[in-house]
Amino acid sequence: MTMTSDIPEQLITALRDARHVCVLTGAGVSAESGVPTFRDAQEGLWANYRAEDLATPEAFMADPALIWRWYRWRRDLADEVEPNPGHYALAQLADLVPRLTLVTQNVDNLHQRAGSRDIIEFHGNIFVDRCFADGTEHTADDSLDVPLCPDCGGPLRPGVVWFGEAIPEHALNSSWAAAIDCDVFLSIGTSSLVYPAAGLADVARQNGATVAEINPNPTMNAAGFDFAIAGNSGVVLPELVESLSL
Ligand code: OAD
Repeated sequence: MTMTSDIPEQLITALRDARHVCVLTGAGVSAESGVPTFRDAQEGLWANYRAEDLATPEAFMADPALIWRWYRWRRDLADEVEPNPGHYALAQLADLVPRLTLVTQNVDNLHQRAGSRDIIEFHGNIFVDRCFADGTEHTADDSLDVPLCPDCGGPLRPGVVWFGEAIPEHALNSSWAAAIDCDVFLSIGTSSLVYPAAGLADVARQNGATVAEINPNPTMNAAGFDFAIAGNSGVVLPELVESLSL
């Protein structure tokens, strides 16, 4: 494993030769846009709560109005900020390699707004609402503390994946297939603590891919990566795209 803040030449070569690049992003990619990462201390009104205690079906059942307040706060935050150079660089990277699969754990729409296409939303999307009872998608009425499903009258919930819930089948299958097929796998801005997403890098490595991490704080998994680039994605990714374009 090489740990560096520069981009190793071998990684650039692997990207140049790659048929298929698979990228997994986490909250760190949005940090430079001003979206707090999941495991940072929460701010303001939410400073006394842990994100891990709010993002569960049990928390929703116990106090749906509280969970809606938290998600509306997060949604407003995501709406107010802009994609950063890391998001834009990943959108550009898709044009520089024959095939790119972008899997994101983020629910904030910033990759989409930066121009990335065909994104696999591993943990759903904060701007989609669905019925807690029957799963149908609706647009929640924000004037209600707990909006209700127009079909069955059950409570609506944010369309994200919570702890203890299954990853949408299509997202799971297509990201696993990409991890198996890719020649280069990039794990960017994720603590690699939450499975099954964190397992994608292992699958890629076991299937022969070159695997690299981009994170200012190398993770516990860093030893298993071929390269751990210790830097912010908003800086490293534009450099990587520039090196590839030369
Ligand atoms: P975390 O908050 O666990 O980790 C964010 C990672 O980003 C950390 O390892 C930071 O070191 C890194 N980081 C911070 N600033 C960065 C920057 N500028 N550039 C690159 N990296 C940076 O977020 P996730 O790994 O995304 O799941 O969390 C995974 C999942 O756990 C989330 O999707 C969410 C959460 O609980 C669910 O809600 C199911």
